[in-house]
Amino acid sequence: MIRPPVITIDGVETTFTPGETVLEVTKRLGVAEVPHLCWDERLDPAGSCRLCIVEVEGRRTPGASCTLRAEDGMVIRTASDKLRRMQGHLVQMVLSENPAEVSPRNADVGPTELQQLATDFGVSRDRFLGRESNRSKDDGNPLLLRDYDHCISCYRCVRICDEVEADHAITMTGRGFAKEIATPFDRGLLDSTCTLCGQCVYTCPTGALADKKMVGAAERGAPAAEQKVTRSICPYCGTGCSIDLHSKVDADGTETVIGVTPALDGPVNEGALCIKGQFGFDFVNSGDRLRKPMIRKDGELTEVEWDEALDYTAQRLRSIRDDHGPKAFYSIASGRAPGEGGYMLQKFQRAVMGSNFIDNCSRA
Ligand code: SF4
Ligand code: SF4
Ligand code: FES
Repeated sequence: MIRPPVITIDGVETTFTPGETVLEVTKRLGVAEVPHLCWDERLDPAGSCRLCIVEVEGRRTPGASCTLRAEDGMVIRTASDKLRRMQGHLVQMVLSENPAEVSPRNADVGPTELQQLATDFGVSRDRFLGRESNRSKDDGNPLLLRDYDHCISCYRCVRICDEVEADHAITMTGRGFAKEIATPFDRGLLDSTCTLCGQCVYTCPTGALADKKMVGAAERGAPAAEQKVTRSICPYCGTGCSIDLHSKVDADGTETVIGVTPALDGPVNEGALCIKGQFGFDFVNSGDRLRKPMIRKDGELTEVEWDEALDYTAQRLRSIRDDHGPKAFYSIASGRAPGEGGYMLQKFQRAVMGSNFIDNCSRA
């Protein structure tokens, strides 16, 4: 029998699948918390921030665990004092380039990944103070704030746009402090291939990119710590992407949806959303939304209970079929309906109404 390859991490021996990185094995094992900044599980590792360094027995220098492939017999240490010191220095250097100790996004959306690392390592930005980034771009697009003063050049936005969205709307130009995220010909996002999906916002670890609808939430009475977060399903199409709805709850219990974040653990979308799911939630708060079924009575649309509405609908459908024949009835399934809903409708159309006239608005 062939023996599976084995790696030892902080004294715990485990098998691994060839091709797995040390960081992936560490996360799967759950034995150690290896910090990381340029890593996102949806992306190919870039190995640029070096924060995920680990010690490998027999090697002189630590290696970045996000790019280091696990090897049979490898012995890894993730948490020595030396590593911790080096990682703390790295966080301080990254922080020093930013113009403020605290990201302006924290109040609205909670601590950014970089902020959380600074807290975990107990470090601040003033140790290596020097030149700062200064490259914000207000390109006038209505949905994405591009506050590159807080950019640390981790490339996560560029990589998610390329590798996950395949939109290739942004890239990195320049070197050193002149490095910046740019669009083709340095035009605004609206003049690029950007689909305003928001993926770059929700991978950015520093708040350099932000959802404009969430910006200022704290000032509007909904700081991150007080927002109610409800796991839901995007209502726009039948794909069923998982979303987290952020809402402000007033003292009288009134709830107002103020933003959406993609659910990384959503089984269908794994954190991906389109522009509609990400930004198109305002209709939920509209006073014109129908909240109860309505029947026209004496020429006026009148709110009724569901039982009355369903009885009325059944009676009308029956009379159409009986008076005009099955072919008088044609169904269009909503593109928002899940597969099960579409299946039910075609069963109803064929078995109950006796007609094959059915279509789906997704074909439009
Ligand atoms: S919003 Fe989407 S398409 Fe536009 S730059 Fe960001 S990741 Fe790319
Ligand atoms: S904008 Fe954010 S995600 Fe993009 S490179 Fe800068 S810090 Fe990284
Ligand atoms: S997370 Fe590994 S180098 Fe950045």
